[in-house]
Amino acid sequence: MKVSDFLNADLSTPCYVYDQAIILDVLDKINALTSRVDIKTLYSIKAANNIRLLEFIRPYVSGFSCSSLYELMLADEILEQGQSRHLTTPIYKDYEWQTIQTLANYVSINSISQWQRFSKNNLISAGLRINPEQSFARDIRYDPCRVDSKLGVNRNQLVQAFNDSMVSVDKIEGIHLHNNCESTDFGQLQQSVNIVLTILDEFSIKPRWLNLGGGYLFHNSNCDELITIVNEIRTRFDVDIFIEPGKAIVGHAGYIVSRVVDIINGENKKIAILDTTINHLPEVFEYQYRPNILNSQNDNGHEYRLAGCSCLSGDLFGDYYFAEPLNRGDVVVFNSVGAYMQVKANWFNGINMPATYLTDENKHFELIMQYDYADFRKR
Ligand SMILES: Cc1ncc(COP(=O)(O)O)c(C=O)c1O
Repeated sequence: MKVSDFLNADLSTPCYVYDQAIILDVLDKINALTSRVDIKTLYSIKAANNIRLLEFIRPYVSGFSCSSLYELMLADEILEQGQSRHLTTPIYKDYEWQTIQTLANYVSINSISQWQRFSKNNLISAGLRINPEQSFARDIRYDPCRVDSKLGVNRNQLVQAFNDSMVSVDKIEGIHLHNNCESTDFGQLQQSVNIVLTILDEFSIKPRWLNLGGGYLFHNSNCDELITIVNEIRTRFDVDIFIEPGKAIVGHAGYIVSRVVDIINGENKKIAILDTTINHLPEVFEYQYRPNILNSQNDNGHEYRLAGCSCLSGDLFGDYYFAEPLNRGDVVVFNSVGAYMQVKANWFNGINMPATYLTDENKHFELIMQYDYADFRKR
């Protein structure tokens, strides 16, 4: 979409916008691929979980992948009968387990001790999360395979568990792995799957399902590599294969539309203070990541430091160039920020949450969420 599309819609800012057409485009691409080899796609709802958005995605996926009881309850509310509810979390809590058993179809268990506690159930299919010890993430905070990781059971831990008879092979119905983020290289998945297959051979584990996780973006990827991986798995096991992308589905589809509220002359730069804040896109601060801005340019032109409106001096989005000088009231649009913005947003300083709109191919903007003082007060 272009800046003029947002201007014409006369949106109240700051707001989040999700573009259905972009989401559909990705889902079509994923579904064209997965239908060639029978992979089931779960949308990982941790990436963005607005109810209308979930309802929109629902018909195009086999189910949702969740990371907590509340996400599971939400998934259960939205999904149709027959669609899958998967749950993967580092810990299952005793007081939640009863409800989880009634709502989930598949659970992935993260450690041997949790396996001993929670795998003995007859209601849901239990799988073990394996840590293939293959690190790809550039930032250690994103790396499930960092040294001394809390995520998944690695080979040494499995050896120990089998030696101590803590795990019975025939009870392992599924295997889960997730060890990447923002990757476009299915060769990395191949590498991880190879390790997992070796482990399965070594311990004679014969799972009924395999969840290959999320973390791959699909666009600009050689998706035939994924087909090769799946075909190879199927030469060894007759398994259902799941993938659970999050960012791939909603990342490019999300925008933050904001306005310039004030311009200050710093010693070296002009600072444009926006009506949004890093509260609304916390990964900018958490991971020092630089968001794209639709109406900025690479260099030359008029430079501004874009600042958020909270009291935090580091509430900054970065330095950007614009073709024309910015003025109070001008629109600044962040693009490709759809994953992990709404779900991580916070109320710091009591600044209201952005409204959320869903837009269709006719550029019709539907308001799907709005917050007010009562929400802040409850919080
Ligand atoms: C277990 C698991 N599955 C899937 C995902 C979704 O990852 P992404 O949004 O990078 O596709 C995550 C992200 O943290 C995850 O931890």
